[in-house]
Amino acid sequence: MILVTGATGTIGSSTVKALKARGARFKVASRSPEKLQGSGVEAVLFDWDKLETYGSALQGVEKLFVLTPTTEKQAEYTQRLVDAAKKSGVKHIVKLSVMGADAEPGIMLGRLHKAGENAIKASGIAWTMLRPTFFMENFINFYGADPKKDSTVYLPHGQGKAAWVDGRDIGEVAAVVMTTPGHEGKTYDLTGPEALGAQEALDALGQAVGHKYTYVDVPEAAAQKAMTDMGASKWSVDGLMELNFIIKQGWSAALGTGVKDVLGRPPRSFSQYAKDFASGQR
Ligand SMILES: NC(=O)c1ccc[n+]([C@@H]2O[C@H](COP(=O)([O-])OP(=O)(O)OC[C@H]3O[C@@H](n4cnc5c(N)ncnc54)[C@H](OP(=O)(O)O)[C@@H]3O)[C@@H](O)[C@H]2O)c1
Repeated sequence: MILVTGATGTIGSSTVKALKARGARFKVASRSPEKLQGSGVEAVLFDWDKLETYGSALQGVEKLFVLTPTTEKQAEYTQRLVDAAKKSGVKHIVKLSVMGADAEPGIMLGRLHKAGENAIKASGIAWTMLRPTFFMENFINFYGADPKKDSTVYLPHGQGKAAWVDGRDIGEVAAVVMTTPGHEGKTYDLTGPEALGAQEALDALGQAVGHKYTYVDVPEAAAQKAMTDMGASKWSVDGLMELNFIIKQGWSAALGTGVKDVLGRPPRSFSQYAKDFASGQR
């Protein structure tokens, strides 16, 4: 039995889809399991902030997919779940981490993921680390590319490129790692097949959905102010600015081999993601 945390989000939902396709036995951990009734998926109550939900969610679980939400508490959450997993006899933990988590001094979100990885490694439970770079889905989910109309996308990315990865590839990798042997003790860097700048990615998306997206490279101070004015906490703004900075510097352009290593095929390209999004397959 596999337990999937973060199952309603971008990566968790792709993981669930891939586990279903593989006929795996799994359940999902959710703050609102009742919302998943009738979806054909077993859902159990789980809230990272409610320790009392950990034990029952982990009942009968052998493999655990750990996807923490982006908060200051994510390393603490992982430690607590690992402690509970150890007590309940979990045999293998697969963590969604982030590419570059080893960088020193790195960035805050990378350090939090690294602390989570360390907590898992120290538990003595078998582990696999999935370290994706930036998700292709970010353009629609966070950057303001509106699938319904032409849009201007303001980002402080300069001319920096990133090796955007399709969330479906991450979900498929997670599903394979949890349903086939030989992935214990391995760390997979998950990227797309090429590094693209913001305008290149937006052109691919725009062409597929039939809209024009224009990238505007905004100064960092302006991006910071805009996020602060929208009510984002200092912690979030600082974290996001670091993420933007590493793209601007070109540090996220490196390609990883994890998708090919696990799935035996190249990662999906941005234009494939865009076409599938446009045709409703995403
Ligand atoms: N975006 C990127 O480019 C990128 C790149 C590399 C790594 N990452 C990492 O990916 C992770 C985020 O993945 P994602 O984008 O798939 O997540 P997401 O779409 O934001 O979904 C977050 C999930 O966590 C659940 N959740 C939130 N708070 C919870 C709580 N208190 N108790 C239980 N469940 C809770 C949500 O469930 P509800 O349905 O209850 O809200 C949802 O299923 C982060 O760890 C981030 O650092 C992101």
